[in-house]
Amino acid sequence: MSKIIDGKALSMSIKEDVRAKVSEAVARGVRVPCLAVVIVGDDPASKSYVKGKVNAASFTGIDSPLIELPEETTTEQLLSCVRRLNSDPSVDGILVQLPLPAHIDADAVLDAVDPSKDVDGFHPSNVAALWLGRPCFVPCTPLGIIRLIESTGVDISGKNAVVVGRSNIVGKPVAKLLLDRNATVTLAHSRTRDLASVTRGADILVAAVGRPRMITADMIKPGAVVIDVGINRIDGGRLVGDVDFDGASAVAGFITPVPGGAGPMTIAMLMANTLGAYYAHTGAAQQPLE
Ligand code: GUN
Repeated sequence: MSKIIDGKALSMSIKEDVRAKVSEAVARGVRVPCLAVVIVGDDPASKSYVKGKVNAASFTGIDSPLIELPEETTTEQLLSCVRRLNSDPSVDGILVQLPLPAHIDADAVLDAVDPSKDVDGFHPSNVAALWLGRPCFVPCTPLGIIRLIESTGVDISGKNAVVVGRSNIVGKPVAKLLLDRNATVTLAHSRTRDLASVTRGADILVAAVGRPRMITADMIKPGAVVIDVGINRIDGGRLVGDVDFDGASAVAGFITPVPGGAGPMTIAMLMANTLGAYYAHTGAAQQPLE
């Protein structure tokens, strides 16, 4: 039986750390940090994620104005909103919730975010810096995944890590973070032949495909660290991951639950990235973030 990795508890300790650092800076007279959150349209899942982000900001003492724009917002209108936030010196971080409605040019919007406020790490200059090994904002879900793996005490160096899913938000950046920690990384995807034989070689398995319970027990190496990034709503509204938790937890060494694994960590790392942006903008850093 595997050990459950408690993402909720770990995310709480990170948020408490951020809260202490914010309160320490504000007590010294530095202005309050600010994360501007922009959502376009009424997608219920996006609205619920955004609510979690605003609540976490409020917990940590970060101001988080929520800018809710209607579904019919044009690319140009969204760009002018982003530009206004770019030029507002009280704003440290800008988060534009994805996905955007199909008629909006999402690339143009991500390109418009000031890289120094890009707490999502989605701007091409941050993506390039990540792959070049230069200082940058790193996307929040991949950062959270690394923290979850590290919390098990399993050393990443030299391990076979398999990432299933090649999205810009999760699969590609987490593969780079694992590579930076000296894992031998395989980036598998929907066209991978005999996926089960690939995943069975994984000491560390990250599932980020968005297909409910597609990773089954027979695809997991006994004792592996399994990180489930999937958030899939199945009939009846129940949330399940990309991993068949009941079967997999009999085989894996460590496994994250859904909900309560990677999800809360994404939000905690967003707070940590916003604190980093705040430190950079205000020069308020006293101690580096652990
Ligand atoms: N949609 C799903 N995940 C994310 C994320 O990490 N950031 C943003 N902005 N949108 C998302």
